[in-house]
Amino acid sequence: MSNRLMLPISRRALLSGAAGAATLAVAPGLRSPAIAQNAPLKVGLMLPYTGTYAKLGKFIDDGFRLYVEQKGGKLGGREITFVQVDDESKPEAGTDNMNRLVGREKADVVIGTVHSGVAMAMVKVARDTKTLLIIPNAGANDATGPACAPNIFRSSFSNWQPNYPMGKVMFDAGHKNVATITWKYAAGAEQMSAFKEGFTKAGGNVVEDLTLPFPEVEFQALITRIAQLKPDAVHAFFAGGGAVKFVKDYAAAGLGKTIPLYGAGFLTDGTLEAQGAAANGLKTTLHYADNLDNPANVAFLKAFKDKTGNVGDIYAVQGYDAAALLDVGMKAVGGDDKQRDKMIAAMGAAKIDSPRGPLSFNKAHNPIQNIYLREVRNGRNEMVSIAQKDVDDPARGCKLA
Ligand code: BEZ
Repeated sequence: MSNRLMLPISRRALLSGAAGAATLAVAPGLRSPAIAQNAPLKVGLMLPYTGTYAKLGKFIDDGFRLYVEQKGGKLGGREITFVQVDDESKPEAGTDNMNRLVGREKADVVIGTVHSGVAMAMVKVARDTKTLLIIPNAGANDATGPACAPNIFRSSFSNWQPNYPMGKVMFDAGHKNVATITWKYAAGAEQMSAFKEGFTKAGGNVVEDLTLPFPEVEFQALITRIAQLKPDAVHAFFAGGGAVKFVKDYAAAGLGKTIPLYGAGFLTDGTLEAQGAAANGLKTTLHYADNLDNPANVAFLKAFKDKTGNVGDIYAVQGYDAAALLDVGMKAVGGDDKQRDKMIAAMGAAKIDSPRGPLSFNKAHNPIQNIYLREVRNGRNEMVSIAQKDVDDPARGCKLA
């Protein structure tokens, strides 16, 4: 297994790791079919390594590499080499960065990314070039909706999935009038819309949708507005550095005691150490909980800690499962990724024993998975209950049979 880091296209800087020589040995145009088959499979990692989602990108990267390491650096018997790009969560650079990975860098498979807007730029290039793409986080509904394609998979969630079940959870907890708050971009809009769908179906009423541009963190005016509105509760989507600051600001304003804060689980996943006591008691819904007591999760958390020194979270799990999904495909074709149809069929039918629990895929290649209600206790997102079992995204607009 080898590695190569590519900085964003704007910076035009390449840092070669051990894979540099291997990468140059299979320069574009020089690959005979025989060499291509024996050459390592080149995995392009397009993730945010800087910015508000930097930690999310790093944990996905670490999770993916952990799985490959556990398989001796090979998937389906084929050696793996890496090339990385920092997408900085900038949608405007998404097309160029993806084109560079599949064009100049000749990545065989691309794993990316975190931000829904960047992911949709990647999806377009993947569709045009028929590049195999596994999305290890971004929830953009369209990626497994109208833009679904045989060569596009997701190892994470659709924005609809963790939020729809929260509607009933909050209504059943007695909250009839709720305000939502999020960043104004695809993920925020889709997550709040899914929450609203579940909440209004249960009988609730959304009193106001509050937004600010991504990735701004000046929350004060919106928190003041929440205090004026006096809703029964608030449902939020923020993640990464923004989630850390929002939870702390909300607690510092003293609102938590009178207007309970809920959220999609990204609000408290991978953030608890930095949020400290401000996160205590927060309830969220997500396709993972830290204390899931299944053997796959116990083994994963130990291995992740041993490798990185960090406590695994949902992002690490999604990276790990992206590699597990690719492994299913590579095994089915004995490492020959040119047998594309067979590989895709195997991946679509995959049943993965994930740290999150059972993981399978719908016709649009989006995960079918449990959504857990969690509560922050003892510095962990502990499972309270399964909010909804085997949640399947509606895949609205996907034409795959
Ligand atoms: C998104 O942009 O889809 C996203 C980013 C962070 C966490 C969850 C979703």
